[in-house]
Amino acid sequence: MRIALLPGDGIGPEITREAQRVLEALAIPGLVFEEALVGGAAYKAVGHPLPPETLNIARRADAILFGSVGDPECDALDRHLRPEQAILGLRKALTLFSNLRPARVYPGLVDASALRPEVASRIDLLIVRELNGDVYFGEKGMRTTPTGAREGYDIMSYNEDEVRRIAHSGFRAAQARRGKLCSVDKANVLETSQLWRDVVVELSAEYPDVTLSHMYVDNAAMQLVRDPGQFDVIVTGNLFGDILSDLASMCVGSIGLLASASLDAQGKGLYEPIHGSAPDIAGQGKANPLATILSAAMMLRFSLGLPDEADRIERAVEAALNGGARTADLGGSLSTAAMGDAVLAAL
Ligand code: IPM
Ligand code: MG
Repeated sequence: MRIALLPGDGIGPEITREAQRVLEALAIPGLVFEEALVGGAAYKAVGHPLPPETLNIARRADAILFGSVGDPECDALDRHLRPEQAILGLRKALTLFSNLRPARVYPGLVDASALRPEVASRIDLLIVRELNGDVYFGEKGMRTTPTGAREGYDIMSYNEDEVRRIAHSGFRAAQARRGKLCSVDKANVLETSQLWRDVVVELSAEYPDVTLSHMYVDNAAMQLVRDPGQFDVIVTGNLFGDILSDLASMCVGSIGLLASASLDAQGKGLYEPIHGSAPDIAGQGKANPLATILSAAMMLRFSLGLPDEADRIERAVEAALNGGARTADLGGSLSTAAMGDAVLAAL
């Protein structure tokens, strides 16, 4: 079982190191890591954020464990050379279209949520975010209007095949959970969303055991704060899913807790925390490694067929949190490595 390890920028190396320690502690026979450069780190070393060598390692791996990309020193580069293009390029090149972002409150952490405890304690939801289309991948550019004003543009589009495959992911995820699927769109304004909604409704006939509802994205943002307990599975497009998953993370308590899986149709996947590279705290040992450790657990479950080992990691994280382990984002003072130690001790 070959794991491509792509630490990336900012806090990426610190947090992936802890996830790797946890995986190694499980002593899984045949598990090997192949590390590669990605993001700003790759650009600075070899001139491209997603070098061919890295893409090859990712392609031949059974799963990819990804840290984060983003580096302020690279913000002035041409867009195709910026660190973020590495993760977007991997998602596209490997057809990782189905992004699973679970959010649930840990009993010991209700106090860390930005919401009142009685509201926060009910959070147990999954955001299924489309990852290969939408305004992220449409034609984009800068141009000049007839009056000489600068104009930026990004085309938003979805075709029905793209919607259908992510809708299937959403329905299946709902079947495996509490049987409720909420499709989030902006069909009152966008044609892209109207097609999205039509296709989701068509597909729902194949899933009579799933209760389907629809919500406009602005209302969904409001409802996630007002009563997040009403949601089971949310299925949505690339841009709306990006925004709502950051929002959901603060309902849970910290963006340092949310893991994700990005899967292709065969179940091959890239696993990464939903947060970014946090350059303001990079290299200081302050970052919370739990989102990455929990991403490693998802990797064992979804790509490597090791659900028991995944459970062990998740239980160890829960035990560490129940035991009071807190990094700064959770109001504590543990370092990144000390949080890793707490999980290893519980393991
Ligand atoms: C995420 C991130 C990425 C995204 C960035 C780093 C390109 O915010 O995974 O949520 O927008 O998808
Ligand atoms: Mg994001």
